Amino acid sequence: MTDHNRLTELATRRGFYFPTAGAYGGVAGFYTYGPQGAALKRNLESAWRERFVTREGHMEVDGPTIMPEPVFEASGHLDGFDDTMIECSECETSHRADHLVEDETGIEDAESLGTERIGELVATHEIACPNCGALLVDAPVSEFNLMFGTNIGPGSSAPGYLRPETAQAIFVEFGRLAEYARNQLPFGVGQIGKAYRNEISPRRGIVRVREFTQAELELFVSPETSEPDLASVADVSLTLYPIDEQRSEGREYVEKTVSEAVEEGTIESPWIAYYLGIATEWYERIGVDTDRFRYRQHLPGERAHYAVDCWDAEAELGGNWIEVSGFSTRGNYDLSRHAERSGGSMTVFEPYDEPRTIERPAVDPDMSYLGPEFGDRAPAVVEALEERAAREPEAFDGEEIEIEIDGETHAIPVAVTGFDVIEETIAGENVTPHVIEPSFGVDRVFATVFEHAFRRDTVEGEERTYLELPPELAPTFAGVFPLMDRDGMGERAREITAALRERGFAVEYDDSGSIGRRYRRQDEIGTPVCLTVDYETVEGNGSVTLRDRDSAAQIRVPMSADGLGELGAVLSDTWTRTRSHAASSTFRVCSFRCRICSASCPGANWAGCWSP
Ligand code: GLY
Repeated sequence: MTDHNRLTELATRRGFYFPTAGAYGGVAGFYTYGPQGAALKRNLESAWRERFVTREGHMEVDGPTIMPEPVFEASGHLDGFDDTMIECSECETSHRADHLVEDETGIEDAESLGTERIGELVATHEIACPNCGALLVDAPVSEFNLMFGTNIGPGSSAPGYLRPETAQAIFVEFGRLAEYARNQLPFGVGQIGKAYRNEISPRRGIVRVREFTQAELELFVSPETSEPDLASVADVSLTLYPIDEQRSEGREYVEKTVSEAVEEGTIESPWIAYYLGIATEWYERIGVDTDRFRYRQHLPGERAHYAVDCWDAEAELGGNWIEVSGFSTRGNYDLSRHAERSGGSMTVFEPYDEPRTIERPAVDPDMSYLGPEFGDRAPAVVEALEERAAREPEAFDGEEIEIEIDGETHAIPVAVTGFDVIEETIAGENVTPHVIEPSFGVDRVFATVFEHAFRRDTVEGEERTYLELPPELAPTFAGVFPLMDRDGMGERAREITAALRERGFAVEYDDSGSIGRRYRRQDEIGTPVCLTVDYETVEGNGSVTLRDRDSAAQIRVPMSADGLGELGAVLSDTWTRTRSHAASSTFRVCSFRCRICSASCPGANWAGCWSP
């Protein structure tokens, strides 16, 4: 069995995730997170929120998952949110045409090639239907819109769509959110929530699903004045795979620090570089293997319709590179489109450091001419002249200027428009902010953490599998076992369990089977520590054994008879410290010792620190 298959089996057996509605034969592209998976996912979301929202001082919102059609007309999803599809005429199953080409030819990112070229490749490589084996040579390649449609209320007069990205629920509320941010750029709005895409061929378990969770941050910046705090991540090392390397013979990754990547122009936007720096530290913190991780720049043909530039964080999973998050420069595309379609204001007033004097084309129409000539349409004429002066001042160079009111063209003598270029002192201007978007696919990050944490070793001559999850993410933080449920040991173990739960730890009490089997159960779900209550606890000095998941080493921890003694504080401290450590590997039982002996003990001596 491959490790990948072992993981899939473990995911179901231990309650991480499994296909939805198995009793009804399942439904492709939908997964349910079981008790361990739901807890791990929740912890992952909390870790994201802590780093990308709370610590950055941003806001968080929670918008609806269904929105009316005009939102997605404006956002461009109705027209441009498509994947390439090919349908087998024999068995009538549909496939992602670009994926078939990638699988058969080794071409990377076939999506960027376009439907025509993909069709040619299907034909020249004689690609067959993966379901029935029939040749797909003559099957047409088409675009398929990924949005799930619905109707809002009875009837079909108010079409709506399940959101294909959480971001739109932020953009449509921009005006209000800018007010909450006191109209000061930059400001960020995060959101964790469900999004939906009617994938042509869902695959790879929770990696490509039809309902999924996104954690997105929309950062609104001034294109002229906002700057990130690059110094705070300047030395973070990035593994980059830029466009020119993807197109070169060598196809090498480029290792650069954040500051080098900006100074040398490898990453154009300092904001994107800043977030790649933060994300790199965060991915390390949550246990992603940095040797199986890279940032790949999108090729021009593969960018989303709104993106000016995009770097994907990609993780290696089961031998494939999978996009786990995207860092896009969206420019002012979204806000401009929503402003245009909704008529709402999507700008922020940006004051200048000093007031500026500018020259501005303006009109001052002679109303004694326009009034009798146009009657109650005169204000519309004034508005049209103002708009034309701002947009096309050279149109006022002749004797007459033509304007259109309600579909009718009128010629106005320029002499009565009062056209002039005037000087004006202004304090600032209305700008449409640009958007920087770090967007995380929570399910894919989950899949990465799960696979990268998977370990196999031998303990006391027996093979075991365990998940080396950082304590911050582990669904269960501690297992508490009585050696046997008798002679007061079960009672003491239950007391300890209750006391730890009161401190906020997720704790599992387990008194069934041998201690070895109980350890294995916790190892498989990634529980960082296990405590065992034995005769020495209830009849001796009250200490318990504390066993480390990764090393399987055990130490005795002193405890007070009526409470947790040092234990609660030690566990709290350990849990908290893992948040600030970059790599999960810095967490070990032996890290406890430093707190006790306040010295940098060599690992071999750690047990001594805990001797009662
Ligand atoms: N908001 C980016 C995405 O959904 O891919």
